[in-house]
Amino acid sequence: MIKTIEYIDGIVRMIDQTRLPVEKQFIDCRTIEEVGHAIKTMVIRGAPAIGVAAAMGASLGADSIEAASFEDFYHAFEEKCDRLGQSRPTAVNLAWAISRMKQTAQKNKSLPITQLKSRLKEEALTILTEDITTNQAMGQHGQTLIKDGNVVLTHCNAGALATAGYGTALGVVRAAANAGKNIKVLANETRPFLQGARLTTWELKEDGIPVKLITDNMCGFFMNKQEVDLVVVGADRIAANGDVANKIGTYMVAVLAKENNIPFYVAAPVSTLDLAITSGKGIPIEKRSSEEVTNINQKRISPEGIEAEHPAFDITYNHLISAIITENGIAYPPFTESLKALANQK
Ligand code: MRU
Repeated sequence: MIKTIEYIDGIVRMIDQTRLPVEKQFIDCRTIEEVGHAIKTMVIRGAPAIGVAAAMGASLGADSIEAASFEDFYHAFEEKCDRLGQSRPTAVNLAWAISRMKQTAQKNKSLPITQLKSRLKEEALTILTEDITTNQAMGQHGQTLIKDGNVVLTHCNAGALATAGYGTALGVVRAAANAGKNIKVLANETRPFLQGARLTTWELKEDGIPVKLITDNMCGFFMNKQEVDLVVVGADRIAANGDVANKIGTYMVAVLAKENNIPFYVAAPVSTLDLAITSGKGIPIEKRSSEEVTNINQKRISPEGIEAEHPAFDITYNHLISAIITENGIAYPPFTESLKALANQK
C-alpha cells in the first residue's frame, strides 16, 4: 500500500507529491512549521491527507513546548495550531484535525506534560489509522454503485495520495476492482497543478487498475459519446445542503454529467462535512499563485507580464450531485436531511 505519510521517531515523513511521477522522494518534517510549509507548497495535498499531516504537525508542535503548567502549555500549543490552521483555507479536514488535537489536550489536562505529549502523538496516529479504515468503509459502500465493465471518470486526485491511504473516490474504484469488477478509469489531467495527470495515473498504474489520461476539455466529448458510465470525485468541504467544494473544474464536470444523464457521485469522509455552513456560498475558496497557471514545470507558457487567475477550488451545487458516499453510508437528495443523519451516526 502507498504510504503517503507516516510517523517515525519524531519525524513526519511524506511522499513529495510535487516530484511525482518523475521521482518518488520523501520529505522529513521535524517541526510543526515544516509541516505547515509542506502543506502550503503541496508536498502533501488532498483534504484528508492535509488533516492527518496537521494532526502530526500539532504533535510535533506539542513536543517542542517547554512548560511547567497545562495553562502555559496550552497557550503555546493553541498559538502553534492556529498558525498551522492557516496553511490552506478550503479543506475543512485541516481545521477538523486541529480542533480534535486541541480537544484531546483539553480532555487530558490533568496529565503530566510529558504524558500529555505522548497522548497527543497517540491521537495523531489514531487519526491516521482511522482515515484508512474510513476510506475502506467508504469504498465498500461506493462500489455498489459501480457495475462490471463500467468506465469511471474522475477529476483531480482523490486517491491514496490524497489520504493516509486507499483514497476516497479512488477508494471506491479500488473496492470495485477488488470485488472483481472489470472497470476502467478516465482521469482528467486537472489543470493547472495536474494532480490527475501526475498522481491519479501514477497510483492506479501502481495498483494495475486500467486508466487513460484525458485533458480536462475532453471529458464532455467522451460523456456525450456515452463512453462514461459514472463520475466519482472527492471533496474538500461539503456544506449542510450538499453543495461540494472540490478541485477547480469539478463544477464543469458535474454540469456536463447532468447534461448527458450520467450519475455524478462525491466520495468523502464525514470529517469533510461542515454542517455549520448552510450552502456552498459560505465556503472559502483558496486563491493560489498566478505562476501555477502561467508556468508548467517552471517553464513559462504565456508571455512575460501576463497575469493569471487561479481559484484552486469551485462549488458544485447539490442539484448536480446524484449521491454523496461516506463511511457511514450513501446520502441521497435532499442532502440537508440525509447528510445530517449520516453525520450523527457513529
Ligand atoms: O489542491 P489539492 O490537490 O489539495 O486538491 C485536492 C482535491 O480537490 C481533492 O479532490 C479533495 O481534496 C479530495 S481528496 C480525497
